[in-house]
Amino acid sequence: MNFVQNTKTPPARVRMAAVAVALALAGCDKSPGETAGPVATAPDPVAAGGAATVPSATSNAYSLPAPNLSPASLALHRVGDANFERRFVTGPAAVGGGLGPLFINANCTACHVRDGRGVAPASATDAVQMLFRLSLPGQDAHGGPRPVPGFGDQLQNRAVVGSEPEGQLSIRYVERLRALADGASVALRAPTYGIDNAYLPLPAGVLVSARVAPPVFGLGLLESVAEADILALADENDANGDGISGRPNYVWDVASQSTRLGRFGWKANQSTLLQQVAAAYNGDMGITTGLFPLEPAAGQTQAGNAAPAPGPGPAFDLPEAELASTAFYVRTLGVPARRDVGNTAVQLGKTLFVSAKCAACHTPALHTGAQPGLPAEMAGQTIYPYTDLLLHDMGPGLADNRPDFKATGQEWRTPPLWGLGLSETVNGTTTFLHDGRARSLTEAILWHGGEAQPSANAVTKMSTTDRTALLTFLKSL
Ligand code: HEC
Ligand code: HEC
Repeated sequence: MNFVQNTKTPPARVRMAAVAVALALAGCDKSPGETAGPVATAPDPVAAGGAATVPSATSNAYSLPAPNLSPASLALHRVGDANFERRFVTGPAAVGGGLGPLFINANCTACHVRDGRGVAPASATDAVQMLFRLSLPGQDAHGGPRPVPGFGDQLQNRAVVGSEPEGQLSIRYVERLRALADGASVALRAPTYGIDNAYLPLPAGVLVSARVAPPVFGLGLLESVAEADILALADENDANGDGISGRPNYVWDVASQSTRLGRFGWKANQSTLLQQVAAAYNGDMGITTGLFPLEPAAGQTQAGNAAPAPGPGPAFDLPEAELASTAFYVRTLGVPARRDVGNTAVQLGKTLFVSAKCAACHTPALHTGAQPGLPAEMAGQTIYPYTDLLLHDMGPGLADNRPDFKATGQEWRTPPLWGLGLSETVNGTTTFLHDGRARSLTEAILWHGGEAQPSANAVTKMSTTDRTALLTFLKSL
């Protein structure tokens, strides 16, 4: 987690948060159905993550263990924390060996900086906290994206000595001004992606999806929401006629060799955190595990990129227990407490958030249940993640035109909005959306199209006071 400790004394309202957590749990429990009813007037609870809420608003706010972990859980979390930070090296090593031959970064924190979000690189020499998913039109045997021969399903832009990177990310932006009703205007930058210096000619028709690293806190709570609760929010054929039709993604789950509800990734393209983490080790770092035993270079024969043949003994770079502890770490990171919930502008902003139909996708409250194999501490919480974990058609402007299991090229999973207001404090950045194209919350909102077009229009028409209140509310999350 690479602490850069913010030495400022936390404001009194943050120090009070631990107390408020208990109070909030006792009192103000809103159901997801609040979006349809009259406008909410009671302030949201401070405890955005229930008993897993951490009273921090500093640069380590995303990096703290849930305060309700048992001593044994906390010990395992600490092991996973060290794994999350560990820089892997080439070749065999007592711990942390096996990097590559192809990779993007040597550790998790290089992309999920302080457990937060990555940014799109501004130039070819910048650190890469983003990846390009690749595929060909069509589906693989499990309904997933069809890998590109010689490249697989992800571009690895780095390689160990003796191997060649698959290519480099190329990003170009074109800016367009968008006028708002109050006379302000906002510049939106539309990206164009390409691949430079590909080590082999890319086949025609390659589909590219650029994605930055999302924050990784609070995910154990989202994994503990009962599947039935998520499906209850889906409205695939828009039966309630509100123009919004969230639907679940169903993806291939390697461990159970079956199709399961997708929850993680920008298109809900991963079923469990264990699989998400194993896929990250594999695709992002070239680290093999029992779940993903082949190097991303497997099958490549150019310039020494072929994976080494598995030798005698354990054939994987990372033992199963290490994979499990890294997954446990992301399952047990706490959620930062809300700030300023009673502030008048925040309350007006929440009202506008509901009236602009933001809450129809960014569902304020969910409940967690006890799930087999998941940490007991994450169960039985009322949480305020502001997501329905469902896919929505966000229009052609945000489309990557690359299907991912059931998700079409225009669909994205509603991202949680909790912790959003601390993004700048933690990561020094206010870039948002799946590819980091939005440089402010206003830009992120104005990119909303498709099912969310009426919401974006509502914000365009707001008075300066109302829009400021909406943003003040978002920053209190
Ligand atoms: C190259 C940058 C990069 C590296 C290195 C990386 N990640 Fe990620 N991570 C991403 C991106 C990009 C996504 C979104 C992927 C998608 O949408 O398909 C992601 C998604 C995730 C998610 C799901 C988040 C969510 O909200 O759904 C988790 C958990 C995660 N990564 C954990 C890890 C762990 C653990 C490691 C180290 C083993 C790691 N990542 C290494 C870039 C990276
Ligand atoms: C139809 C569903 C829907 C509605 C309505 C909606 N959103 Fe979103 N929102 C999404 C999805 C899906 C994304 C991710 C899009 C992407 O990354 O390309 C998103 C992304 C965001 C982000 C960026 C989050 C991040 O982590 O990068 C913010 C901020 C946001 N929405 C706020 C709002 C606000 C404010 C409103 C109301 C004015 C709203 N949304 C209405 C579905 C919706």
